[in-house]
Amino acid sequence: MTRSIRPLVAGNWKMNGLKADLAIATEVARGYDAALKAAVDLAICPPATLLFPASAALIGSRIATGGQDCSVQPSGAFTGEVSAAMLADAGAAFCIVGHSERRTLHGEGNATVRAKAEAARKALLVPIICVGETREEREAGKALAVVRKQLKGSVPEGLDAASLVIAYEPVWAIGTGLTPTADDVAEMHASIRWDLARIVGKAAAAGVRLLYGGSVKPSNAAELMNVANVDGALVGGASLKAEEFLAIARACAG
Ligand code: 13P
Repeated sequence: MTRSIRPLVAGNWKMNGLKADLAIATEVARGYDAALKAAVDLAICPPATLLFPASAALIGSRIATGGQDCSVQPSGAFTGEVSAAMLADAGAAFCIVGHSERRTLHGEGNATVRAKAEAARKALLVPIICVGETREEREAGKALAVVRKQLKGSVPEGLDAASLVIAYEPVWAIGTGLTPTADDVAEMHASIRWDLARIVGKAAAAGVRLLYGGSVKPSNAAELMNVANVDGALVGGASLKAEEFLAIARACAG
């Protein structure tokens, strides 16, 4: 953790969730008690179809919502796309961009991710920009260089600390049950903060929340959240279970 930074635990539901699953969000809200509220911010990023009802269900809970992706375009003839303004209109405060599943399955490169982050900012959303290396890149000793290049290409210049979140998600740790060692996470997060200073300036970089994501569970959350420069978590599978998501939030609250 970075003592001066208020941590954020965000749940990425991915392509999971029907109306009945809004109960997960309300259960999280019930468990977000005064002690947790004092210590950690929470956000839930449901599929776009649930963004409006989830945001409505969470009014008064102090739990934010977010989109999982947005168009680079503001509006127009782009069938199937969802703009950042639409996400904001549905109640979102955040938008995940550049998730590895978008980079890999939808061929999104750094320039697209950066354009999406800029589109999110124009709609006053806080982009959660995802970066992370593959297993092969880590084994080849290239993890730091790969993430440095992703940051350089994906993070818009001139953002302040409150307008940007970075999520380090090693591709090989997503949905696999595998996690990097605490030492590897510490090395990567220190490197990310250093690299960010070159993009947004030293003062902003010092305050940006750097989330770790990839197989975060109640059983490993405390160890991961205690690593220097880890300011919260981006949680996939475990965010679909209210009790597990809350347990991760408690681990983050310390
Ligand atoms: P898991 O927590 O299921 O590994 O997913 C991580 C992730 O991709 C969050 O964005």
